[in-house]
Amino acid sequence: MTDTNKPIIYLDNAATSWPKPPGVVEAMSRHLMESAANPGRGSHVMAVRASRVLFEARKRLSRLFGVSNPNDIAFTLNTTHALNLAIQGLLKPGDHVVATTIEHNSVRRPLEALKRRLGIEVTYVPTDRWGRLDVNRVEAATNERTRLIAAAHSSNLLGSIVPAAELGALARCKGARLLLDAAQSAGVLPIDVEKMKIDLLAFPGHKGLMGPQGTGGLYIHPELDLEPLMQGGTGSRSESPEQPVVRPDRYEAGTPNTVGIAGLSEGVKFVLEETVEAIHSRERMLTIRLMEGLLDIPGVTVLGPQLAEDRTAVVSFLIEGVDPSETAFILDQQFGIAVRSGFHCTPLGHESAGTTDTGAVRASPGYFTEESEIVFLVEAVKEISRKFH
Ligand code: ALA
Repeated sequence: MTDTNKPIIYLDNAATSWPKPPGVVEAMSRHLMESAANPGRGSHVMAVRASRVLFEARKRLSRLFGVSNPNDIAFTLNTTHALNLAIQGLLKPGDHVVATTIEHNSVRRPLEALKRRLGIEVTYVPTDRWGRLDVNRVEAATNERTRLIAAAHSSNLLGSIVPAAELGALARCKGARLLLDAAQSAGVLPIDVEKMKIDLLAFPGHKGLMGPQGTGGLYIHPELDLEPLMQGGTGSRSESPEQPVVRPDRYEAGTPNTVGIAGLSEGVKFVLEETVEAIHSRERMLTIRLMEGLLDIPGVTVLGPQLAEDRTAVVSFLIEGVDPSETAFILDQQFGIAVRSGFHCTPLGHESAGTTDTGAVRASPGYFTEESEIVFLVEAVKEISRKFH
């Protein structure tokens, strides 16, 4: 049984970042104490305060992502929700989609469902085994029916980064739309939807933006009308039986997670103040330390781009002859280190990496990870490797 008093070395930031900046907890608590009424549904003081929380969060996200009109950002529960809104809201029978083999199931499964339901076609362009994408191959996969290019900005298994701006330019040139899955990149890689020609940007609130779970969003290009995933109350045009066309109401039926968004807003403020560049540079330093340490251990293989290449702070690895779930179990139980093991919801990514039979252990440092924690993980992996050889 895990000792609940033992300090945890948290290296699972690619799933959910932790800890959060102190302002996040305070903002959520303050919101619950002072302004936890229903936003957009009343004109009393608390309802107005709640609406302001959403507005402020949208403004901060717009600054971060280069969005001109904050109302082009719709809040969602997570990236999966945002990706479903984008994919199901855009595609029609006969459409063709180009995606890649590093997609997460939250892109692949909605696409596969629409293949069955609407008869859309999907081409998955293979990356190399390090998760690197050749844009020429994406171009070669497009045809006159290609309506969407969908790509993970950074692989949640390999940490590789796709050339998003080149994909944006390609999509424009082909009359298609670019959907960028920023699950692993929002808050840690520069993103500017206008400069990079991103039509749809799906992002989580609970990873690099340092907010709580249950938050996320979708930027929708102003000229793009998606069919909403859900219809319902918006607090606007209540007399009409139709979902309003005005944004963001069109895509935000029902009472939102305002307390979560109060926390997310503080997380985004923190990211803006620290800067994305400083966050990426610190995470890159930690990633390099971790990779160097692991690569030094006999029998350990590290997946994804090699040391000199840029990548996000996702370090998946294997100890020869040791099942990844066993490694993760020992790290947790004996060393108090939290990592993720298995297939990471990306079987296609494992096909690219050649690890379909094994899965992998994934350690993902975050901005608050200490170098000493990286050293501790490397020593623990050394010990496990020694025990099995
Ligand atoms: N998609 C998240 C991950 O990669 C949860 O772990």
